[in-house]
Amino acid sequence: MIAIDKYDIIKLFAKIFNSLGISAYLVGGAVRDLLLDINPLDFDFVGEIDEQRHFDVAREISQRLNCSYDYNKNYHTAKFNYRGNDIDFVMARKEYYDGIAAKPRVYSSCLFDDLKRRDYTVNSMAVSLDQSRGCEIIDPFNGRNDLENKIIKVLHDKSFRDDPTRVFRGIKYAGRFGFNFDEETSDLIVDCVNNNYISYLRAERIKQEIFNILAEASSIKSFDFIEKYNILDKLIKSNVKINLDINKQIFNKLDNNRKLVVLLYKNDLETLNKIKSVLNLGNSIIEYSYKLKDIGKVLNSNDKDVYTYIFKNQNNIDERIVSTIFYKDTRLQNYFKYRGKIKIDKKRLSYVDKTQIEELILNKKLSMFNIYLSGGNKDDEF
Ligand code: CTP
Repeated sequence: MIAIDKYDIIKLFAKIFNSLGISAYLVGGAVRDLLLDINPLDFDFVGEIDEQRHFDVAREISQRLNCSYDYNKNYHTAKFNYRGNDIDFVMARKEYYDGIAAKPRVYSSCLFDDLKRRDYTVNSMAVSLDQSRGCEIIDPFNGRNDLENKIIKVLHDKSFRDDPTRVFRGIKYAGRFGFNFDEETSDLIVDCVNNNYISYLRAERIKQEIFNILAEASSIKSFDFIEKYNILDKLIKSNVKINLDINKQIFNKLDNNRKLVVLLYKNDLETLNKIKSVLNLGNSIIEYSYKLKDIGKVLNSNDKDVYTYIFKNQNNIDERIVSTIFYKDTRLQNYFKYRGKIKIDKKRLSYVDKTQIEELILNKKLSMFNIYLSGGNKDDEF
């Protein structure tokens, strides 16, 4: 049994499906999340109906809810956004893949086939929306067991060949839930990476999957897996350095492009250019990486050089990226903390908040002020 009653959206769709006499099910991530006691982000429903009926029912739902929808005639999927909820209603299907990462041929079928075509056992459970079946969980591949054992497991050994995006999806779930891959699935990931199945995907697709991972609060854990399985190295065909020594709290507040810069800036120009082209990125990853390497070099020199550099380049320093990477450098932290309150007027130091600066000096928190006020070289240019 599973608590679907507290979700009005599930009850509403169940009511519509029941009134139309359709065998329909809640499937995929929402079932997994409910079993984990997590509020689902979106809802996927499957109906055991043919192509034409699916088309008609999608239109009927749209009319009843007075809600627009996107319909895909090739895949028989209908996407609704109803009162802020993302809802997918799809025709139960059997899928055939004719090649690596090929688009599947899709045929109307039963729930079992529909669960069997999915990525992982934990995503291959369903709950019947037929009231007489009382919210029973349909779990032909023991997903519930794997959920309890924190295991990510594919349903068959062609899974990554059919759809290599599943590697990224699995890594996303492993990071998000703190799960691990079962041994056979882990071997299949190695096989997928070594056979370069991922390179059969379009750059935009790979980028999207990586961005989906980056959007997760646990993306750093997922990047441990990306590193462990040498995914970027194989894709780029060179040794990719991933910088994981970062301040995670600040990292999580960055946008995805900045997160990528933080993770990859240590690579040389050739590697960065390859990453840029394979992931279809803009030029900013290269520009930012150069600046960050410069800052890294300056931070190895003395305090005065560091402050001089910061003041000269302050308009080009992205505070959040820099403090994510160089989070251990107290000079930078002090600078960012009092940024805006300190002004350099040609050769003289002036400040906005006198009391605060005096307090800083007293507490010896800002060595730059110490240098200046204890007779540092006043001819230095800023
Ligand atoms: N699915 C799949 N293979 C894919 C994409 C999706 O098998 N390449 C199936 C999975 O059963 C998945 C469901 O379709 O649970 C819905 O896809 P999606 O919304 O992307 O997955 P969620 O598990 O809901 O992911 P999230 O929690 O990140 O929203």
